[in-house]
Amino acid sequence: PVLILLGPPGAGKGTQARMLEEDFGLIQLSTGDMLRAAVAQGTEAGSAAKAVMAAGGLVSDDIVLAILRDRMAQPDTAKGIILDGFPRTAGQAAALDSLLAAKGQKVTAAISLEVDDEAMVGRVSGRFTCGTCGEGYHDQFKQPAHAGTCDKCGGSDFKRRADDNAETVRERLKAYHAQTAPLIAYYDGKGVLERIDAMADIGAVRSTLGRIVMGVS
Ligand code: AP5
Ligand code: ZN
Repeated sequence: PVLILLGPPGAGKGTQARMLEEDFGLIQLSTGDMLRAAVAQGTEAGSAAKAVMAAGGLVSDDIVLAILRDRMAQPDTAKGIILDGFPRTAGQAAALDSLLAAKGQKVTAAISLEVDDEAMVGRVSGRFTCGTCGEGYHDQFKQPAHAGTCDKCGGSDFKRRADDNAETVRERLKAYHAQTAPLIAYYDGKGVLERIDAMADIGAVRSTLGRIVMGVS
């Protein structure tokens, strides 16, 4: 299947995409992760994206599409994909449709994670990840079982994202409402939209998503 997770910063797209990988063997494609890797590597795309990301704006469609096309061309994506943080603009949604059409595929389901904006500022500001394996945590909602040690890999090097401060999160929310939220109607029009309450706890959202994936696979 080709699944899309739609939702504002902090909605739980990354958290749930990684769980869907575990539960269903699908491949998570996060354009945010790909862009952060490009920034860290100092590639041409990364240098162009860096300041935009730090300010909470959207990176240009050209850059994002070039990165995503390369990733989608890799053979592991045949197992089925979960798009996390993509598409984010009408142009990206149209490009995705043609990319899939060229392979005889289409979007299986676009899942909108519905949340409350104010709560998102707290979720994003409390977030940290394992620098070794990428597992995500939260100061209040998801601490490692043993403080200071990653549950997954035993690593002890945790990181916080440069754009995870309250001010930048508000800019990211604005970008979401202006440019990405209209895609909810776009996918509704295609008959592939599913809305879920993502204010529920992580396990409850995981079960709801699992039922949706089993229903469409
Ligand atoms: P990106 O990396 O995609 O960030 P984002 O959309 O802002 O989303 P987040 O990663 O902040 O949140 P999430 O929904 O994944 O939540 P998470 O699971 O971590 O993009 C970053 C930047 O890159 C953009 O601003 C833009 O500049 C650029 N970019 C990326 N893609 C682009 C594109 N396609 N086009 C243009 N520009 C692009 O959860 C958050 C926290 O809450 C975690 O700590 C988690 O443990 C916790 N949590 C999760 N679910 C729950 C729950 N149900 N209850 C309580 N806590 C929860
Ligand atoms: Zn780890």
